[in-house]
Amino acid sequence: MKDVVYFDAAASFLKPESVIAAQVDFLRRGYANAGRGVCARAGAVDDMVARSRRRVADFINADIAQVVFTSNATDGLNRIVNIILNRFDKISTVAVSDLDHHSARLPWVELVARGKIRKIEKCELDENFNINPNSVPKSDVLIITAMSNVLGVAQDVSAIIRIARRKNPNVITVVDATQYIVHNNIDVKKWDCDFLVASGHKIGADTGVGILYIRDTDKYMPDKFGGGMVMRVDDDEIVLNKSPDKFEAGTLPLTQICGLSVAIDELESHRPDLNLIKYMYDELKKNPRIKMLSSRDAALLTFVIDGMHPLDFGAYVGANDICLRVGNMCASWICRALGFDGVIRVSVGPWNTIADADKFISVVKKIVK
Ligand SMILES: Cc1ncc(COP(=O)(O)O)c(C=O)c1O
Repeated sequence: MKDVVYFDAAASFLKPESVIAAQVDFLRRGYANAGRGVCARAGAVDDMVARSRRRVADFINADIAQVVFTSNATDGLNRIVNIILNRFDKISTVAVSDLDHHSARLPWVELVARGKIRKIEKCELDENFNINPNSVPKSDVLIITAMSNVLGVAQDVSAIIRIARRKNPNVITVVDATQYIVHNNIDVKKWDCDFLVASGHKIGADTGVGILYIRDTDKYMPDKFGGGMVMRVDDDEIVLNKSPDKFEAGTLPLTQICGLSVAIDELESHRPDLNLIKYMYDELKKNPRIKMLSSRDAALLTFVIDGMHPLDFGAYVGANDICLRVGNMCASWICRALGFDGVIRVSVGPWNTIADADKFISVVKKIVK
């Protein structure tokens, strides 16, 4: 396939060679199921899963029992809803913000539509479209998008949680760290959140693995049942394993888990260079037809073009071998708040260079006169 300038890291990261090599080696030489066998190879797979879990736990400052492997952030966000509802039947209000990705909010909206939850409340955004911590309403559950996938600004998660707990000490806090984790270190203990999710494929791991952090693992029942999560079964009773096993029914995405720890090593040593965003921002801003929506120091570059539909722009730059994202980014609420149905988003990964930025700028100059 032809080489492209890949400016779509926020949709999915390209995979570092080390991740590909680790996965290929595992598939060629190390493959077996985990948690099932007694042979040396099966034991080695268990060790690999444990090492990867340890790597994730260290990465977000969690304990290993608090790290559950899922298939992606969406899976984690949906599972959290069921985990919470299994424990508390009286969830009445859920607070959200317009920064949310559809995956974070839709499962709750659906419950409101079915009359299972009374109301969705909103945290307000300030004039820069950041969550105003003082506007956080009293609620049973609070969803916090730590970084919007449209505007790319880190939110003050600690302050938001602190203020939410002042209003309701028992509020259950859910952090969507899918974009935040790409650019920032995470300390779940400092944040003191109840749940957190991220996707492996957005940080250089393969598709099919996600991270779910659960603070109080003993407080919650699993949302799925099956192999690998019980200590004992009788005809009418089961004794669950301890976390994380009790939350991991069925075979895990082993190859992806193998690559995940390597991806985290890579990400920690090579974060995306956000100077490229600033550079493109400064150049694009000179064009009077381009309206910047993101700020110069954001992790993403998001804009619209006067008189040109984002889809047309995407097709033009695509024809020039540049991959980027156009549309509502599955984040309709913030697009609406910004006043547009669709936007154009450039996102960079560690592989991008100044030459990529220059190529993009010259293509834009050609098509947006
Ligand atoms: C902020 C945010 N949350 C959740 C998701 C969903 O991620 P996935 O599709 O990997 O489940 C995305 C994907 O773009 C995202 O940007």
